[in-house]
Amino acid sequence: MKKYFAIVMIFMLTVTLNIAQSQKEKAVQKKVNDLISQMTLEEKIGQMTQVDYDAIKANIKDIGKYFIGSILCGGNSEPDDITPAGWANLYDKFQNVALKTRLRIPIIWGIDAVHGHNNVDGATIFPHNIGLGASRNPKLVEQVAAVTSAEMRGTGVQWDFAPCVAVSRNEKWGRSYESYSENPELVKILGAAFVKGMQGNDLSDKTSSLACVKHFLGDGGTTNGKDQGNTEVDEATLRKIHLPGYISAIKAGAKSIMPSYSSWNGVKMHGNKYLLTDVLKGELGFKGFLVSDWAAIDQLDKDYKTAIEKSINAGLDMAMIPNGQGQKNNYIEFITLLKELVNEGKVPVSRIDDAVRRILTVKFETGVFDNPLTEKSLTPLVGSKANREIARDAVRQSLVLLKNENNLLPLSKNLKRIHVTGKSADDIGNQCGGWTISWQGKSGNVISGGTTILQAIKNTVSNSTQVTTSKDGSGAEGADVCIVAVGELPYAEMIGDRQDLTLSKEDADAIQKAKSSGVPVVVLLLSGRAMIIEPELNKSNAFIACWLPGTEGQGVADVLFGDFKPVGKLPISWPKNMNQIPINIGDANYDPLFPYGFGLTY
Ligand code: BGC
Ligand code: BGC
Repeated sequence: MKKYFAIVMIFMLTVTLNIAQSQKEKAVQKKVNDLISQMTLEEKIGQMTQVDYDAIKANIKDIGKYFIGSILCGGNSEPDDITPAGWANLYDKFQNVALKTRLRIPIIWGIDAVHGHNNVDGATIFPHNIGLGASRNPKLVEQVAAVTSAEMRGTGVQWDFAPCVAVSRNEKWGRSYESYSENPELVKILGAAFVKGMQGNDLSDKTSSLACVKHFLGDGGTTNGKDQGNTEVDEATLRKIHLPGYISAIKAGAKSIMPSYSSWNGVKMHGNKYLLTDVLKGELGFKGFLVSDWAAIDQLDKDYKTAIEKSINAGLDMAMIPNGQGQKNNYIEFITLLKELVNEGKVPVSRIDDAVRRILTVKFETGVFDNPLTEKSLTPLVGSKANREIARDAVRQSLVLLKNENNLLPLSKNLKRIHVTGKSADDIGNQCGGWTISWQGKSGNVISGGTTILQAIKNTVSNSTQVTTSKDGSGAEGADVCIVAVGELPYAEMIGDRQDLTLSKEDADAIQKAKSSGVPVVVLLLSGRAMIIEPELNKSNAFIACWLPGTEGQGVADVLFGDFKPVGKLPISWPKNMNQIPINIGDANYDPLFPYGFGLTY
């Protein structure tokens, strides 16, 4: 009887929720229709235009003049004051201009918060996606995204160009670390978890932000891992490997998607009507909108007008434009040319209306019409202790223990002397990698707050333990253990494409010196991908793949000293040598150095 009652209650609750949901949708549709019916063509095209902050900062009045619907800050564009308060002020300043336009349609502000709110000084920086992939923990990824969103909202920004659901099939690719895994199954789960965390229970909540799933489709499958390259596979393979992340993200409520710079069998994605319109909006029922990648339309044709025509007709709804007045293909040209195309009948008004309807619907859903300005109570919470604890947990869960000879790890906290060396042992910039304060990231003290691995080790050991240091691997003689932190220097996108992933001479030498000292050697590899490590692996007694952990180096010490047992599993297949790349789970003759899913524990 009780059981019956419960079932009836659940049923009624579901019905009520569905009714509420559809009433809410109807209310939004009504508002959108009201607005569209009042809009001029210029106002509509303005909504389809997203301008980079750097390109418009000298002419902020253009937001009102051209009815600009969206602003972004690219990897290198940011306010002079990059503190949370500085960002919030910038956001409010721009929003106030938009709110003075005839129809008072607020702007929506996009950013690449791809591992935390990473352009903000003092923000919490999480491991890059490859590390989260190693955790295999959707709950964790949901938390990471929720914290990122809350930190974003503390600066006004409510739209994140994330998650990247690329399935990276080739380590040479400079964006490998933005991919959770080479395995579509894992990407599918973690991408959806990110969307849930970012968008919260309700997209209009004051801590929720709009997710943008990218880069559609096949960005991680290009030949030779070339960034913005060509993915040469048949449709069945394209769908099997690269589509699952989108299907699950849309199910999880994703309302914006970014097409990829890359091509599928020679056709650039930004002009691929079949995939953008027929598959995404048709077959998959995607109700949100498509925003282009950075000046990506420009690549469709030498003639900008033709390029715009191709892309908008293929299904693109909003163009991301990094160029300002005086530059080629700037936002005013885009607006002028798109207007001409409509007036010439080359882009149908129905296409414009569809794009604007999609954009405005999502804008209403985000709540930005009701709460256009920064939620100032959230500003002081950027980089809070509680948020950093979640990042620290993410670090611990992301580390993959590849070797642990004679149970060298975990280390005792009471050793007499620990020698910590290698160029990345005391370097927050190297820990964070690309997309940190600047587009490419850089070594050194790039961001306030956080803990380097060296500091974390010092925080963890007993008072009687001496911690000595060097940068080049020297000086370990007589210590109980030598910890060497080496790896890649920060990079992003095409600049990170590599034909050679062997360790640098500096790193190999550091490990050699550590080994020659005769003390046990623990190598910490900080990298955005698998590297060629066999010689160094042989010289070390323990070896941990740390990926790009972000600001919370304490998570590394937690694992080194056994406060947390390693749980990370390789989200990729680890190649023996460059000739083995690409190597992926499911390949014929699969013989990697470490297979997909490998990971030791204590
Ligand atoms: C990248 C995108 C990013 C955009 C805006 C592009 O170069 O491919 O991932 O969202 O820039 O910064
Ligand atoms: C921007 C990035 C963008 C890249 C693309 C950089 O200057 O800051 O956001 O992704 O250019 O080329």
